[in-house]
Amino acid sequence: MAEGLFISIEGIDGSGKSTQLDHLTKRLDLEGIPYLLNREPGGSGVGMQIRQIVLDPKNPVSPTAELLLYFANRAQNVDEQIRPAMAEGKLVISDRYTDSTLAYQGVARDLGQDLVAQLHAIACRGTEPTLTIYLRIRPEVSANRLRNAKKDRLEAEGAAFHFRVYQAYEALAAAHPERIVPVNGERGEGSIADDIWRILMERWQRRDS
Ligand code: ADP
Ligand code: TYD
Repeated sequence: MAEGLFISIEGIDGSGKSTQLDHLTKRLDLEGIPYLLNREPGGSGVGMQIRQIVLDPKNPVSPTAELLLYFANRAQNVDEQIRPAMAEGKLVISDRYTDSTLAYQGVARDLGQDLVAQLHAIACRGTEPTLTIYLRIRPEVSANRLRNAKKDRLEAEGAAFHFRVYQAYEALAAAHPERIVPVNGERGEGSIADDIWRILMERWQRRDS
């Protein structure tokens, strides 16, 4: 059986990832394309428990503990979810992956991208997305979208933190144009969904080449 395809979707908080993944999974269901949706933090039983720890605004999680919690979650998901689904030939879609850790912990928390890369090698052992959709919106647009939302521990960080996350994503997209495809997220949901579908299907159809 052909190996599956591993893709990720990234962007700052409020960029519309959840909204787009709803559109995408509905369309995959209609087309009968077998997929696994992974989510980080979360994505597995152990992952959901880590998600609660890491996002609870009442928890005084230190930056290094935060970094390791995200990677513990990812290591679990790689073993329990992503690799088995790939072996079954599925399309694996991860709502966030290591680009999030590079942007949030590596840059915004200032822990360094080299450290993140070292932990990535330990936790993920070569499981890398072939394609990453980067939903690009400016931080002021997301702040406006989220102004009345209940905020988790990371979302509750200030505007300067979120601006650093945004700048980090922009730098990652510029550094990896062969993998990261920016999609303008400041448009109506439908046209963004159409773009993502087109990009994804183009890659899915030539997955064995
Ligand atoms: P994320 O999962 O990236 O945090 P969400 O999909 O939850 O983002 O969207 C954050 C907020 O923005 C929600 O209130 C959602 O309804 C709204 N939203 C999502 N996509 C768009 C869009 N294209 N235009 C305007 N608002 C949007
Ligand atoms: P997520 O559930 O994707 O939130 P949202 O749907 O609001 O974008 O992610 C929760 C938070 O965790 C988000 O603020 C980004 C943060 N995060 C990191 O800081 N590092 C990571 O490695 C990951 C995967 C997420």
